[in-house]
Amino acid sequence: MKIETIAIHAGNHADKQSGAVIQAITTSTTFVRENGEYPGGHIYSRASNPNRTSLENVLAKLEGGADSAAFSSGNAAGMAVFQSLKPGSHIIAPDDMYHGLRNLLKNVFVGILEFDFVDVNDKQTLLNTIKPNTVLIWLETPSNPLLKITDIKQAVAIAKQNNLWVAVDNTFATPICQQPLSLGADVVMHSATKYFGGHSDLMGGALIIANKTDWWAKIRQVQEMGGAIPSPQDCYMLVRSIKTLPYRMKGHVQNAQALAEYLEKHPKVEQVMYPGLPSHPQHDIAKKQMLSFGGMLSFTVKGGADEAAKVVNAVKIFTQATSLGGVESLIEHRAMVEGPDTKTPKNLLRVSVGLENIEDLIEDISLAINTI
Ligand SMILES: Cc1ncc(COP(=O)(O)O)c(C=O)c1O
Repeated sequence: MKIETIAIHAGNHADKQSGAVIQAITTSTTFVRENGEYPGGHIYSRASNPNRTSLENVLAKLEGGADSAAFSSGNAAGMAVFQSLKPGSHIIAPDDMYHGLRNLLKNVFVGILEFDFVDVNDKQTLLNTIKPNTVLIWLETPSNPLLKITDIKQAVAIAKQNNLWVAVDNTFATPICQQPLSLGADVVMHSATKYFGGHSDLMGGALIIANKTDWWAKIRQVQEMGGAIPSPQDCYMLVRSIKTLPYRMKGHVQNAQALAEYLEKHPKVEQVMYPGLPSHPQHDIAKKQMLSFGGMLSFTVKGGADEAAKVVNAVKIFTQATSLGGVESLIEHRAMVEGPDTKTPKNLLRVSVGLENIEDLIEDISLAINTI
């Protein structure tokens, strides 16, 4: 089956009893036991629920994995990976890892795990950072907010030689634009809050595993026993939204490419970071490993924080807000959001390119940039 068909059918179960074409939301927290058996296959909703099972099924199939676990947020999904590791384990993570997960490691896992934030696209740096207690290489490509691309196959080759796992945060790309498991990664992580949800109205997270190993069993325990799970309503909403994911992504990618090309020629723009531009430093890697280049871009304006602030305060169709992946276009002054320890350039604006008409988006942003 092709991905558009998977997106529509793999998460839906017609109800045999009522004939309903669309699966109902099962709010029951507990399930009937008969003669020592659970005829519906569920016992208690923290451990499993019909709506979550449907969501996990479509997520696993979209990423080409053996299984999937859904969580209440992207960070909860990331945290389940960290919690599954033995205390004292060492993780190698990107120097521009999503700041929320970086802060989670630095604040919650300090003294429990060891971690180094390095340029994971540099072969020698990766090799030099591996220690006897290293167990995991964490990748995020394209990265947030610099849209840096990491060569997944290169990192996987190093990981395999050294008996390490590779996890890829695939939130920016989605399985429509990139399939890390097919490139050799062991697990994929998502903030389902973003493109999977697609309408900026729910929080969710997901992990998808290539093979059902002992490590996956441990991650499942963290999910089922820890209980950072999405509600049946949110699972239902995600299954519903995922049906249009492939077509939404086509629109996001088309608009992002057009906006990136426009911004690159603007005299008040210093640099545009979008993997679909030939000027992107890792464009060749992106072409090799991505199916299309995603809907996120960042750009720096000529000037500093004041000029960047002027632009985000002048837009009318774009909304000045953090987050990404919704049908509406968002823009943010990223350094302000990331806080005082950020390394993000002060003149950088991050854009989640939505599905509005591209001519309206270009007109809006050009009027805003011309206020500088
Ligand atoms: C790349 C990336 N990973 C993980 C997360 C965390 O997801 P959530 O906010 O759903 O916890 C985000 C959120 O912005 C993100 O952009």
